Amino acid sequence: MTGEATERTTTGAADCVVREMRWWDIEPVMELEKDLFPQDAWSRGMFWSELAHSRGPGATRRYVVAEKDEQIIGYAGLVVSGDQGDVQTIAVARDHWGTGLGSRLLTELLRAATSFECAEVLLECRVDNVRAQKLYERFGFEPIGIRRGYYQPGNVDALVMRLRMASDDDSADATSPDGEQGTEIHD
Ligand SMILES: CC(C)(COP(=O)(O)OP(=O)(O)OC[C@H]1O[C@@H](n2cnc3c(N)ncnc32)[C@H](O)[C@@H]1OP(=O)(O)O)[C@@H](O)C(=O)NCCC(=O)NCCS
Repeated sequence: MTGEATERTTTGAADCVVREMRWWDIEPVMELEKDLFPQDAWSRGMFWSELAHSRGPGATRRYVVAEKDEQIIGYAGLVVSGDQGDVQTIAVARDHWGTGLGSRLLTELLRAATSFECAEVLLECRVDNVRAQKLYERFGFEPIGIRRGYYQPGNVDALVMRLRMASDDDSADATSPDGEQGTEIHD
């Protein structure tokens, strides 16, 4: 993560609370979900399923919400499998865009990825979602491939991005060629 991103988290959206998402947050999150992802919104059941795996010793998920004046204004989620994390979702209410809240939520997910001892964090992003891509790039995510037609029913491609988490092996990584750069990924 860059120093710039860390600084943003202390300035933007400073007056809201970021906390664990619980089942009673699903309804307000669904309202945002339908507004922000009109073509491929998650169902209530998907959020219930994710939250079912977010607590206890075997937890593999971390979901958070941003709350301001008792209103949910953002949410984000990470799933972990082995030493790989995946940003499942991140969203901010439109009237709070550009306040640094997206950065704050992503910071929280990356903190969770560190706790889960992830070696890398991946995500998919619509190729036309430049705003989100810029957010991810600021945190050090790099494009590693395209998933054709990942978003249905619109048949929109996904850009796959990856962030390597800091580890003792970093010096070895820095000297090895990155053969995956620009690789096409086919499901
Ligand atoms: C993508 C998304 C989460 C970004 O959230 P956000 O709160 O606007 O993110 P940030 O405020 O941290 O950064 C966005 C912009 O605000 C600017 N910004 C950040 N902090 C700021 C501050 N304190 N003051 C002014 N501007 C600031 C950033 O420079 C950035 O602008 P840039 O993209 O031109 O560089 C949000 O746009 C969203 O919910 N989009 C719809 C859902 C979506 O697409 N999710 C991603 C799926 S892959």
